[in-house]
Amino acid sequence: TPFDLTVRNGRISTDTQTFEADIGIRDGVIVAIEKKLSLGRDDIDAAGRWVLPGGIDSHVHVEQLSGMGVMCADDFHSATVSAVFGGTTTIIPFAAQHRGMNIPAVIADYSRLAREKAVIDYGFHLILANPDETALTVDLPEAIRNGITSLKVYMTYDRLKLDDYQLLDVLELADREGALVMLHAENHDMIRWLAQRLIERGLKAPKFHGVAHNPLAETEATFRAVSLSRLLDVPVLIVHVAGQETVKVIRDARALGAQVHAESCPQYLFLTADDLDQPGLEGAKFCCSPPPRDGASQEAVWEGLKDGTLGVFSSDHAPYRFDETGKLPKGEQTGFKDMANGVPGIELRMPLLFSEGVMTGRITIEQFVALTSTNHARMYGLAPKKGSIAIGADADLALWNPARETTITWSMLHDNVGYTPYEGRTLRGWPEVVLSRGRVVVKDNTLNAERGSGRYVPRGKPEPMQHKAAVTSKGALSAWTKGMTA
Ligand code: URP
Ligand code: ZN
Ligand code: ZN
Ligand code: ZN
Repeated sequence: TPFDLTVRNGRISTDTQTFEADIGIRDGVIVAIEKKLSLGRDDIDAAGRWVLPGGIDSHVHVEQLSGMGVMCADDFHSATVSAVFGGTTTIIPFAAQHRGMNIPAVIADYSRLAREKAVIDYGFHLILANPDETALTVDLPEAIRNGITSLKVYMTYDRLKLDDYQLLDVLELADREGALVMLHAENHDMIRWLAQRLIERGLKAPKFHGVAHNPLAETEATFRAVSLSRLLDVPVLIVHVAGQETVKVIRDARALGAQVHAESCPQYLFLTADDLDQPGLEGAKFCCSPPPRDGASQEAVWEGLKDGTLGVFSSDHAPYRFDETGKLPKGEQTGFKDMANGVPGIELRMPLLFSEGVMTGRITIEQFVALTSTNHARMYGLAPKKGSIAIGADADLALWNPARETTITWSMLHDNVGYTPYEGRTLRGWPEVVLSRGRVVVKDNTLNAERGSGRYVPRGKPEPMQHKAAVTSKGALSAWTKGMTA
């Protein structure tokens, strides 16, 4: 037989079409897609199942020190196991530089941790906190050549914040080297000022995190990020878009031809600021930055996902336990200021969107595939190996049972967080069988993958940067250089 494995009789969807066919797999790669294939060495009957590309989660924090200096609860084993049980077969976590850290050493550390523990494939983004001369001329070009073709930079958090001058330096470098810049866009001083006023008034409860992170802080910083991008004519990607005005800023910028891409996450579709308003410290479980907003913003995020303003749907999995090692304030002084920012979501990202998006008819199954997999592959240089069901692509597949109903409780999940913000919700549809490079990693609710069996995937040039290259290779100078002649 020409096949190690076939997946038979399934209903296959890509980002553009849905059809019934068999899939033939050899050496971890899809080698045939046809109406009726001969049997393989092994065969899976996918009748009644929707066969989708494995998810790509391009925003996850794993074994990472946060912007506030808190260690994540998930390591590369628990995070990847949790991911794959939720239908995700590739993650792009962060190798995080904090000021004073040497970039090659940071990358080597995270690479070793992932190599030893990951059960699915992974790449890395670099969080850049110190864009000094060595970083810009030596370390970053080398990291990008090694397949770390995206950088995340922050406009807030004391330990990570870059000023606008530094952001321009990073954009110029990214343009030159073909990397995509991801921005955490919130106005640092607005948040700091509001937080100080709240603390002075003794308003320290978790819900005041949502008050300090006013939607205008997000909107202003996003507009500024868009302006910096337009000034240099360099693509950017705004991560974790939460507010309705922010969606509008991005949509308007794109209409003007700005090369602005954007991401949103489950917490902005399924949570609101009201979730932070609970007795005691319970609201800390829902604390992330930007915080979830209101119903109108949830609607705006749905619209943005549907019309392409928001091209990628990631989890921003930022796992912190509900105790003093994570979520709970370490000091009585500052209350919400001391709570670790971030919510878990690596396992439920796809089931939530499948249930509340696809099964309700809000989005099509093809949009679901685009938002959870294909667009990530293109955005971050993983295509065509990842993100699609096509000949030559890795056999990363999830077999969804659309009829299965699951009531969520944390104990059924595989992360180390100890709670889920989505406790008690009933979801329709579940990825019951998951394949990573042709290996059946999840089946019958059981994991079958060794620690360290995931592979590092060096990424190619992100598609937004390829487009950019095509423009400049015609000899056009970037707009900003036009006035710079005597
Ligand atoms: O609150 C969040 N999102 N924490 C994770 C770190 C980040 O900014 O993405
Ligand atoms: Zn962020
Ligand atoms: Zn905060
Ligand atoms: Zn994040």
